[in-house]
Amino acid sequence: MSLAPSAEISRSDRTSTARHYLMCRPEFFTVSYSINPWMDPGEGTDTARAVGQWESLRQAYESLGHRVSLIDPIEGLPDMVFAANGALVVEGRVYGAKFAHAERAAEGPAYLDWFIRRGYETLAPSFTNEGEGDYLTLDDVILAGTGFRTDVASHMEAQEFLGRPVVTLRLVDPRFYHLDTALFPLDGHNVAYYPGAFSAGSLRVLQRLFPDAVIASAADAEVLGLNAVSDGRNVVVNAEATGLILELKRRGFEVVPVDLSELRKSGGGPKCCTLEIR
Ligand code: ARG
Repeated sequence: MSLAPSAEISRSDRTSTARHYLMCRPEFFTVSYSINPWMDPGEGTDTARAVGQWESLRQAYESLGHRVSLIDPIEGLPDMVFAANGALVVEGRVYGAKFAHAERAAEGPAYLDWFIRRGYETLAPSFTNEGEGDYLTLDDVILAGTGFRTDVASHMEAQEFLGRPVVTLRLVDPRFYHLDTALFPLDGHNVAYYPGAFSAGSLRVLQRLFPDAVIASAADAEVLGLNAVSDGRNVVVNAEATGLILELKRRGFEVVPVDLSELRKSGGGPKCCTLEIR
């Protein structure tokens, strides 16, 4: 660990690229059902607080120079705020989502319609998949989660439609039910991840592909620190992920901490709220 003063370690030659994100204001956010271990409908949620935290996230993206488009929230779909699950977009081609749970099923067509109405080339999926929740795109490969939500058959469907190699990774810890709760791309070639979320074989795949990865601790994973968004230089990450934040700074990233504690009651963090249109 570096002991350099923070002014020195935050100086960086890492470069960001401008991004376009799709987000959904959590006007109807609540926890009324439980489809992952984070969700306790008895705990109570504060929708106004969720909207406030989400607005800070949106402002963080805009102040970094990124473009944010919005999709209208739909009453009765409290998890629609988690836009990452709505699709996977690579080079303008939109692979639609097909949700594993009935409670979220209507979100798939709602997100796909947003893209169809804007003239994108789309594919309605045959197999269950939860969009960028389980698909993370790097320059040469797409990393794809399975085990809890996305059907491995969807991995082949995505590869055929998008023309980028898809690497299957098996998730084994129900708290980290989507790939984006356990891993995030730092840039087009490297990632950060929590080893405990993956099967032994998938861990070896990650070690082979990313020998220089940032390895996160259980403590950082348990505050959804891996559910972060990097533009290649700036990393938007839950503020409680203190160990991960130190390591990111040491590696020359600029860290943009956010508080999304209200949305975490549903098992979501910054990345879950963010669908990249690339
Ligand atoms: N409550 C939602 C679910 O369980 C949270 C989704 C979080 N999204 C994500 N990309 N990890 O489906």
